[in-house]
Amino acid sequence: MPHYDEEESTAELVAPDVPLASHSGLSPRAAALPIPSHADNTISIPASRSSMGDAGSLMHNLSLSPSTKARRGSRNSFGTSLPIPRSPRRSRASLQRAAPAVSRDILASQVQDMAKEKVANAKNMAFVFDIDGVLAHGNEPIEPAKEALKMLNGDNELGIKIPYILLTNGGGKPEVARCEQLSEILEVPISTDQFIQSHTPMQALAEYYETVLVCGGEGVQAREVAQTYGFKNPVHPKDILAWDPSASPWRVFSDADRAMTKPQDFSQIKFDAILVFADSRDYATDMQLILDLLLAEDGKLLTRAQDPVSSRIPIYFSQGDLVFPTEHKGPPRLTQGAFRIAIEAQYKALTGVELERVVYGKPERATYTYADEVLRSWMEQIHNENKLPQNIYMIGDNPQSDIVGGNMYGWNTCLVRTGVFQGKDGENDKNNPASFGVFDNVLEAVKAAVRRELGQEFKLKWNPKVNPILSGDDDSAVE
Ligand code: G3P
Ligand code: MG
Repeated sequence: MPHYDEEESTAELVAPDVPLASHSGLSPRAAALPIPSHADNTISIPASRSSMGDAGSLMHNLSLSPSTKARRGSRNSFGTSLPIPRSPRRSRASLQRAAPAVSRDILASQVQDMAKEKVANAKNMAFVFDIDGVLAHGNEPIEPAKEALKMLNGDNELGIKIPYILLTNGGGKPEVARCEQLSEILEVPISTDQFIQSHTPMQALAEYYETVLVCGGEGVQAREVAQTYGFKNPVHPKDILAWDPSASPWRVFSDADRAMTKPQDFSQIKFDAILVFADSRDYATDMQLILDLLLAEDGKLLTRAQDPVSSRIPIYFSQGDLVFPTEHKGPPRLTQGAFRIAIEAQYKALTGVELERVVYGKPERATYTYADEVLRSWMEQIHNENKLPQNIYMIGDNPQSDIVGGNMYGWNTCLVRTGVFQGKDGENDKNNPASFGVFDNVLEAVKAAVRRELGQEFKLKWNPKVNPILSGDDDSAVE
């Protein structure tokens, strides 16, 4: 587990010591919570504690969103190391991709032979797409994304695949299932070999831990994910409730819930780690069980450690976003980062000690390093070249994860206005400005990047009537 570096503390996060509210002398801050004074049937009793929330002093100092200007783009303490797999695992599912259209491929390869420089440039660039707020909102596609991906899949002047991968802080279901869903809504095949969810790099942790509590996501899919990653005994909170429903006092545990569980005698089980893979669908249960294990003696339920710090098992969160865009018409919704902060505050309130934890996902460097590996291996699959393109464009909607991470990693960054970032026309994010600019949507960003690398005249459609003899820089390709 990481160690906490005092230099990381930020003075502005510490809650001011607010004096108690009283009738005679309300402090300016306490007075900000006015109590109606014209009620005949009530009397007003002075509060015995401050009306200001305690969160500031309880929160982990690294919980606030990082900004390129003020911080170093990580939610983890200095000295923390995040294991990632040495090389991405190729899935069988991805090898069963649709057979290529042979005649078109032959034609395209003839066109490509005539335009070697453009081909080299096309293989020397790549896109890394965020999903929520860039390609989709939940299960609803963002329409311009379809055209952008189609173009990158070969519907362009060279008929060439311009490499791209998807890098999302989302998760909670197996990669295969999410890729099937994305392929359907985006109307292009998405392979698991070009896909990284927040928890995908966490498969490396299976080398270190056997019995893990896995939280988040629908049903018990998080347990299935952990199984595919090689964890020997992944346990879902529902499995624990099947053993003892009273562990979560407010939860009504149904027969349908029980049907999906794998109960064990948890009084005899020692947990090695806690993994939060996605948004909790049952905050009360998940928080209770996570706190139980953090406070337990050596990861054993029903126990309480004398010294919670020395016997505490490690906890890993798959990502740290506070909010994310959804189909909801109002502002973005709370997500895993908000859940984590609540756990941190509860732990600090119960023990007086800061919770040491590890957060994966964007903008964490480990996630970007892993993305490089996936991109390199994807290049090998689509172009038979084991090399990392030099000109990488991250397209994201969240300045505090996609953009800050991409900037720190030396990628070109594009911010789109279809998700978390809602800046006005011509405005970039102040704290984490996108280096390549702000665009109305993903298609605009992709067009601008492709034209920068392959020339302003580059045609963003494949021309089925192309004549390779006349092609190369031929103008007959359609716009
Ligand atoms: O929970 C936040 C997550 O859904 C964000 O996903 O694709 O925007 O990184 P993405
Ligand atoms: Mg997003």
